[in-house]
Amino acid sequence: MTSLKNVLLAFCITWVITPALAQQKPSASVDQKIEALISQMTIEEKAGQLNIVVGETINTGPTMHTAESKKFDEQIRAGKLTGLFNVYGAAYTKRLQKIAVEESRLHIPLLFGADIIHGFKTVTPIPLGEAASWDLDLIRRSAQMAAREATSAGINLNFAPMMDISRDPRWGRISEGAGEDTYLGSRIAEARVKGFQGDKLSDPATMAACLKHFAAYGAAEAGRDYNTADISERVLQEIYLPPFKAAIDAGAATVMPSFNELDGVPATANRHLLQDILRKQWNFNGAVISDYGAVGEMINHGSSADGSKAVIHSLEAGTDMDMMSYLYISKIPELVKAGSLDVKYVDAAVRRILKLKFDLGLFDNAYLYSDEVREKKEVRSKENIALAREVARKSMVLLKNDNGLLPLRSSYKKIAVIGPLADNKEDMNGSWSFFGEATHPVSVLQGIKARVPASTEVVYHPGCNLFDNSRDKMTEAMTTAQGADLTLLVVGESAVMNGEAASRADIGLPGVQEDLVKMISKSGKPVVVVLLNGRPLTMEWLDQNVPAILETWTLGSEAGNAVADVLFGDYNPSGKLPVTFPRHVGQIPIYYNHKNTGRPYSGTNNEPASDRVYVSKYRDIKNTPLYPFGYGLSYTTFTYSEVTLNKATMKNGEQIEATVTVTNNGNYDGEEVVQLYLHDLVGSVTRPVKELKGFQKVMIRKGEAKKITFTITDKELTFLRGDMTWGTEPGMFEVLVGTNSDAVKKKSFELVK
Ligand code: NOJ
Repeated sequence: MTSLKNVLLAFCITWVITPALAQQKPSASVDQKIEALISQMTIEEKAGQLNIVVGETINTGPTMHTAESKKFDEQIRAGKLTGLFNVYGAAYTKRLQKIAVEESRLHIPLLFGADIIHGFKTVTPIPLGEAASWDLDLIRRSAQMAAREATSAGINLNFAPMMDISRDPRWGRISEGAGEDTYLGSRIAEARVKGFQGDKLSDPATMAACLKHFAAYGAAEAGRDYNTADISERVLQEIYLPPFKAAIDAGAATVMPSFNELDGVPATANRHLLQDILRKQWNFNGAVISDYGAVGEMINHGSSADGSKAVIHSLEAGTDMDMMSYLYISKIPELVKAGSLDVKYVDAAVRRILKLKFDLGLFDNAYLYSDEVREKKEVRSKENIALAREVARKSMVLLKNDNGLLPLRSSYKKIAVIGPLADNKEDMNGSWSFFGEATHPVSVLQGIKARVPASTEVVYHPGCNLFDNSRDKMTEAMTTAQGADLTLLVVGESAVMNGEAASRADIGLPGVQEDLVKMISKSGKPVVVVLLNGRPLTMEWLDQNVPAILETWTLGSEAGNAVADVLFGDYNPSGKLPVTFPRHVGQIPIYYNHKNTGRPYSGTNNEPASDRVYVSKYRDIKNTPLYPFGYGLSYTTFTYSEVTLNKATMKNGEQIEATVTVTNNGNYDGEEVVQLYLHDLVGSVTRPVKELKGFQKVMIRKGEAKKITFTITDKELTFLRGDMTWGTEPGMFEVLVGTNSDAVKKKSFELVK
């Protein structure tokens, strides 16, 4: 024991105290180095390692200080900060890092965190949009590109991916996730983690991912941000948690507890989430980073009486780092000294943060991520812009296209581009894009102008404003539309209408935009609606009256070019909705994998009243969504054969193959997302009417037929059984394969013991 102590002490003296030697990788193991460091730390320095604060340039929550760029120097020097977030720039981060490693007593390098949600300076579509591509490799490459750019500017910790499942489009943060489905969300979560983190955290072009928000944030009651979530343990485990588990299995380095309470306990101090599930069931050893001010918010929740109690509750539950409450830094020393907090909790948290810094390679080279040469070369490089355009065009979903109005023919001599978002650049960056510059994106108008043949004139009118109710500009816009051969109406939400703190009770087109669409639809000329929005919108009138609708979400830097690619047929749209579009806000929560109920209704509202009263339905609107999950059209037509199975029964441990032939019998080559759903007919607990269990995105040339085979194993049939264990149950299953969750071909098999 004594000799180990001596070794550690000797190591500390040579390694910790002399930063130059620290760069020489002494032979002690990382764990030994960490213990050596901890043994040197004062309680104040330990608390400092658990304290991260927002930089002075970008705020993502209530501001606790106003600061100049030298604001943090003294705190860093004094070892009071483990890192900063939402600061960037190779030169600036290097300057701060230099203070940490050269002027602080223990020379511990800083973390630089940021919310790189969909790109850094090259902005890709909002995550909900990317999810609509159903293209996992593309999503991985997009995250990888974000990491390459952000790390060159000093960032080494990314507060992403946001992977909250949500069944409520009123919730503004639905734009940041992968939509409503657990299976799709899990695959996308893995892809994003792999993209951000690559194979090795210490690679200078990768950054640590932070899985957020753990958990059930997307189940906020009434879709109101930060609101209480109250869901059953079964729904938590089956619907909300699997994407987190998948991302942890993919190697994610850190986790962020959510703002909400769950079953009466705020996630920041929720032992069931942070201990039972995260640490014990999933063996997660990485760091847990609180959300912005969430430790302090324990007081508002009514969960902790004061700041000291909030620290004890959060730290003991397993929240290692305090973001912006300033409570760990101010309270930990006195609590430990008073004997109210066992230092073992502090040490455990410090250990995990130091481990993260080691894994990131910061102890070998503190300046690994602040690379001015790489920053110049990488940020908004030609390749990155090209990738942003590729992701953008693959994220769009064609919702309607009567009589093949799209792609646009070159015979149009005059095209009117109308709408409050048509000539807009800054909103193309979307919500959660702090680093994308307002002047960078290509507007839709610019994209169209750049693409039309020389013989086509493009005229523009804003039509109305985004929010207010003024109709002053509408008559003029109508004249513009009447003078053109076709109108592209660019309408939707601005960037601030979705994302954090952007819940909406009415999810129709804001302001008088729907009235603008109604008016221009009477122009006597064809109208194409180009939608820009971060959530499903209610727009039944549009669906019934406008011949063509293209959902573009918010596409980022290359928005206008990508929209033009699709409108003019340079790219055949292949996106599918990752979330159900309701007809009416009153249908929410609405999602495809619902239960059947004891009185299901699948009628048309036209049957005799006696058949349609005491069933699960509305008296005033249909049950069905406007557009179902998985829906999206192509310029070509895909037809599906019946599903065939290679056997009618399957034993546990065996597998079964389901095959369909998909034929492209339209006029364009195109990609199709072939979707596999399963329905377990009878269980110890009821099962959803269908659940996505696989998909394949395939290119099918015109005239070509492709055989698509899915392999079904126990894994796809497993669920959380009545006794709360995961496994299968014998019985009948339906295999449903199709082009969306509603249009499927069906075949049954039996699972036998
Ligand atoms: C609050 C958000 O909930 C979280 O997602 C984000 O990472 C932090 N602010 C930091 O910006």
